[in-house]
Amino acid sequence: MRATIDLAAVEAMDAADPLRAMRDRFILPEGVIYLDGNSLGAAAPAVFNELQKAATQEWAQDLIRAWNTAGWFDMPVALGDQLGRLIGAASGQTVVCDTTSINIYKVLHAALGMRPNRSVIVAEGDSFPTDLYMAEGVASTRPGTVLRLEGVDAPTIEELIDERVAVILVNHVNYKTGQLRDMAALTCKAHQVGALIVWDLCHTAGALPVELDAANADFAIGCTYKYLNGGPGAPAFIYAAKRHHDDVHQPLSGWWGHARPFAFEQSYTAGSGIRRFLCGTQPVLSMRALKGALDIWDDVDMAAVRKKSIALTDLFIQLVEARCGAYGLELEGPRDGNARGSQVSFLHPHGYQVMRALIERGVIGDFRAPSTIRFGFTPLYVGYKDVWQAVEVLEDILRTGAWQEARFAVKTAVT
Ligand SMILES: Cc1ncc(COP(=O)(O)O)c(C=O)c1O
Repeated sequence: MRATIDLAAVEAMDAADPLRAMRDRFILPEGVIYLDGNSLGAAAPAVFNELQKAATQEWAQDLIRAWNTAGWFDMPVALGDQLGRLIGAASGQTVVCDTTSINIYKVLHAALGMRPNRSVIVAEGDSFPTDLYMAEGVASTRPGTVLRLEGVDAPTIEELIDERVAVILVNHVNYKTGQLRDMAALTCKAHQVGALIVWDLCHTAGALPVELDAANADFAIGCTYKYLNGGPGAPAFIYAAKRHHDDVHQPLSGWWGHARPFAFEQSYTAGSGIRRFLCGTQPVLSMRALKGALDIWDDVDMAAVRKKSIALTDLFIQLVEARCGAYGLELEGPRDGNARGSQVSFLHPHGYQVMRALIERGVIGDFRAPSTIRFGFTPLYVGYKDVWQAVEVLEDILRTGAWQEARFAVKTAVT
């Protein structure tokens, strides 16, 4: 990273960016600098093409036949394999289905069931809340199960891991701070005491290279509407290591996970392989949208994504601290790019107002209570000049005090 940087330098960085052409595969509104792809990824014409085809040809013309002729029935597994390539999962271990929250429930319950003599679930106190809520739900199904939380029961997750632990539910990247965990090391630590581990990859899939198989992970879940650009409410995914497939019983035993769904039998027999994580009929149009979004990744080098992600986030931190340092912003989360996901957060006592003022000026990030302003950097469509311009706007809002205008204090949902 250069000590001083100017507009010409960031333009040169864009010109030399090997991912630059990917931006043309997305639709970005005029006048918007979009730094919220870590919440909802941008739209792509490829997604609309798939939707159009699925609706007007397959549904409208083929009707029910499309379950077979268009491969609708097999889509959860086919898309799972396609996505698996982005998270280091060999085929047959990933399935696309349902929502992240529901998948957490399925996987966590299944993992707990695989350790019947253990009673502890470990999670992070500052986890994305749904993970904790679902963990509470799972714990309530087996009397005596306790939840141990990092930041509440001990300062670090490592200190909570012992022989009583059945399963650890942990985020690879923290949604608020962007802190990245060492997947291989924590998985190894869990296995040393006989515990299982579930990785939440919501802020990882499509943001940086992940090696689930190589890390010897047990399970993972994640969403596809952030860095994978599958669209609002796009279906989520589950990874389960092949070695567990025969031992795992997930609680939402719907007919799509049955060994013989079309035999319409009276009682449940789990299907083989990753299919047993399915529950019921899947949202075909959303799946087809996701297919369009995943196809884009066939042409993407994840190492280049990571390199650019670190460069973008480093540049943002450097510019914000140099130009806005006098206005009460404090970096929240790692300074070392290698310990960071693809997002940067700053604390500001009036973060809510600052973010609303930014959004009004076309710089879209988001706010997380009580005082975090959060910016996501999606290497496929964010450039270095975007970073430069976003910081210019931020500096102006802080220097002029524009964020203090009364209308920004009115609480509305900030993305
Ligand atoms: C870490 C994490 N887990 C889970 C979720 C959400 O799950 P769902 O898609 O079920 O709403 C999010 C959403 O932002 C998240 O950041």
